[in-house]
Amino acid sequence: MGTTFAKIELLIVFQKVIFKQSNNNMLTSSEIRQKFLQFFESKQHAIVASAPMVVKNDPTLMFINSGMAPFKDLFLGNQPIKNARIADTQKCLRVSGKHNDLEEVGIDTYHHTLFEMLGNWSFGSNDNNSKGYFKNEAIAWAWELLTEVYQLNKSDLYVTVFEGDQKEQLEFDKESFELWKKYLPEEKILRGNKKDNFWEMGDQGPCGPCTEIHIDLRTATEKQQTPGASMVNSGHPQVIEVWNLVFMQYNRKADGSLVLLPAKHVDTGMGFERLCMALQGKQSNYDTDVFQPIIQQLSLRSGIAYTNGVGQGSGTMTNVAMRVIADHIRAIACAIADGQLPSNNKAGYVIRRILRRAVRYGYTYLNFKSPVLNTLVPILAEQFKQVFPEVKQQQDFIVKVITEEEQAFLRTLETGIKRFEDYKEQLISGAFAFELYDTFGFPIDLTQLMAREQGKEVDMDAFNNCLLQQKERSRAASAVETQDWVILKEAASNFIGYDQLHCSTQLLRYRTVSAKGKKLFQLILEATPFYAESGGQVGDKGTLQFGSDIIQVIDTQKENNLIIHVVEELPLALDVACHAQVDVLRRKRICANHSATHLLHSALKQVLGSHVNQKGSLVNDEHTRFDFSHFTKVTDEECEKIEAMVNDKIWENISLQELRAVPIAEAQAMGATALFGEKYGDLVRVIIFDKAYSIELCGGTHVNATGSIGMFKITSEGAVAAGVRRIVATTGVGALNYYKEKERELDKIYSLLKQPKDAEARLELMLVEQQQLTDKLEAFTIEKVHQIKSQLQAKVRKVKGLNLIAESIDISHPEAIKNLSFELRQQIDNLVLLLGNAVDGKAQLSLMLSDNLVAEKKLNATVIIKELAKDIQGGGGGQPFYATAGGKKPEGISMALNKIETLL
Ligand code: SER
Repeated sequence: MGTTFAKIELLIVFQKVIFKQSNNNMLTSSEIRQKFLQFFESKQHAIVASAPMVVKNDPTLMFINSGMAPFKDLFLGNQPIKNARIADTQKCLRVSGKHNDLEEVGIDTYHHTLFEMLGNWSFGSNDNNSKGYFKNEAIAWAWELLTEVYQLNKSDLYVTVFEGDQKEQLEFDKESFELWKKYLPEEKILRGNKKDNFWEMGDQGPCGPCTEIHIDLRTATEKQQTPGASMVNSGHPQVIEVWNLVFMQYNRKADGSLVLLPAKHVDTGMGFERLCMALQGKQSNYDTDVFQPIIQQLSLRSGIAYTNGVGQGSGTMTNVAMRVIADHIRAIACAIADGQLPSNNKAGYVIRRILRRAVRYGYTYLNFKSPVLNTLVPILAEQFKQVFPEVKQQQDFIVKVITEEEQAFLRTLETGIKRFEDYKEQLISGAFAFELYDTFGFPIDLTQLMAREQGKEVDMDAFNNCLLQQKERSRAASAVETQDWVILKEAASNFIGYDQLHCSTQLLRYRTVSAKGKKLFQLILEATPFYAESGGQVGDKGTLQFGSDIIQVIDTQKENNLIIHVVEELPLALDVACHAQVDVLRRKRICANHSATHLLHSALKQVLGSHVNQKGSLVNDEHTRFDFSHFTKVTDEECEKIEAMVNDKIWENISLQELRAVPIAEAQAMGATALFGEKYGDLVRVIIFDKAYSIELCGGTHVNATGSIGMFKITSEGAVAAGVRRIVATTGVGALNYYKEKERELDKIYSLLKQPKDAEARLELMLVEQQQLTDKLEAFTIEKVHQIKSQLQAKVRKVKGLNLIAESIDISHPEAIKNLSFELRQQIDNLVLLLGNAVDGKAQLSLMLSDNLVAEKKLNATVIIKELAKDIQGGGGGQPFYATAGGKKPEGISMALNKIETLL
């Protein structure tokens, strides 16, 4: 691996030099990114790292889909604002939900699954000292950066501003219009409608008018022929939006109405790959140095040149395929690095589909019949080294996961293609095309192409119908209707559950949520001891008492940092004091399982090696389920060692050392095991059980000293995905119950064996005796079959020039009958062998034909047996030369044996 790294590193440096030379020393993509961040740093913005793309703890979002998503809690006012000005480059993925570009990717030259969004933010507050800004500065700085720092041609730039919307009673954004007039002639300031110039992050939540900056990258002749202003927002691949400046000033409520936000914010997002295209003088994002290293590798591997092209469907399908792969590998590698493995549901399924789309394009158009995506990971890791180091840090693991996924899907693809070839109808039914799409990952355009090659057609209406039905089904399954919050008191909400399990508090707000025909209520308390599900630990249960009214909390969840208590009924009086009480026993068991998970994590690293990293976990009151990177099975001996190590740590009774609100960098310097999921600004909690043994960043709840975990027992070990193993373990009472269950099983065995002194010896003896009996029975059967075979040989009759044997026999084992039939077929030419037998009131028939009777005389055992099966009131099937039937009328066997002659 070492030399491969060195080679790739060298290759990339080399490519950069060539790129610079052949592009008149234009800025490289890293320089472009750097200049953006430096510019906003000079405007007093704090520069922060990209948040992980995979979203944990927000049920409304699977992946970060825009630069502002990691800051949602700040926009919603759920978190205090620590820094009014922030800038970053954020990994975004737009492949599900409201923003979904997947089907366009690769077909055109400017949409992507994963893209970087460069952004600057101002988080407003009502405080006069805040360093927040609004339209004036946002517009001035955008113009300064584009035209002075990047030196884009002013004459190529156009902007759009919100024209207003009568229905929503929203006014024309005159303020932005006037501000732009300082920089651009009026005819270049276009008015856009709500669809293009009013940005909303979801169906509900903060939103506002936006002003977009577009660039015209067409040739001088084209510009002369058609003025750029008429091309803005027309879908032209070279007249594109580069930057969106959103001015958040409203909150969209559940009923669709808009109310003003208490403070105004700025949210800008610039498409990094498009900016690179503009600055590097390219016509397609894929011609920039962001994608070229990967495309060149694909070209090398396929032996097919990539011909630069632009726009919808540009170039041939080989170009499309290279773009699809070059794009998708970035999304796949980053998702895995951020902790989302391909799988069969939810976010994991989204990643699996992206991967399959890439494999399928490679297979069909670039003739990649074995894994290739995995070879691209080192190139990406090198490219991202500075900005997203997590890819390089986990390179081996990512390669392993991708390789296994590719291998598995290539096998599926082969099966799907075989299924397609076996499909005989001229019109390919919608249901079949849908099966290929859904089960085998064939996009419909591929099925259509394969159909055309065979002069067939796909029933597209029916296919679309199937697709629609599936969408409806999943919509119905996941449809959640969330009402607006009913606010009883404006106040911050406090979590006190690390120190207390009950408290007296007050209800701040509540809302109604309906899903799958069930109505639930979500409550926010001013202070709460309830732990909300996060970091793999389940949410607390317990009670809320309002006066004499006791309400059960069935779950506690977190959404944008609000702790939500889920209840089935509202209290009768909402404005009385509330006593919140966590289910103490359940919480204690959860704590024991969670602390044991930390002890397990360290034991795994010590026993298996430092490559072990947490890949997921679920901690509840019954067990802990821990997923970690490791490439082979954990052997029984290793499991025993791990178990023993954890139990030793439990019995050492190590006290918990807990540090709250530690800056991430400081925690890492202490040697804390960093998990994915932390983002800028998070002050982390550090959990230490003996600083020489276990230091972890963790928001969960823990025991005060390891002794109260009691005991630790691994109950299973297995694989969950490529390179990921899963250990399930239990502690305390759970472990005791596990042993009790084993004891019960053992007692049962002793009692079945009639309480022997030495059960093990007794069982061994029984097994030996059983084997002896089986051997005897087998010898006896062979002898019997041998006798029957001789008898049958003597019963051959000539019928219509064929050798017919049609007899009842006294063997019931299907395998024995089949072997006997094959042996007779070897010995007798032109054989038609029909055997019947009755077992336990049921009838069986088997029919064997010589090959030449099938090939030349066109006899078919399956067809004949189906006819004969009627006599025994049953059904049958098989192959043309050997078929069997079963039925419920043994008396019919002789009828069938007689009838065969008439069917030949
Ligand atoms: N939120 C806006 C967008 O995604 C600007 O960042 O386009």
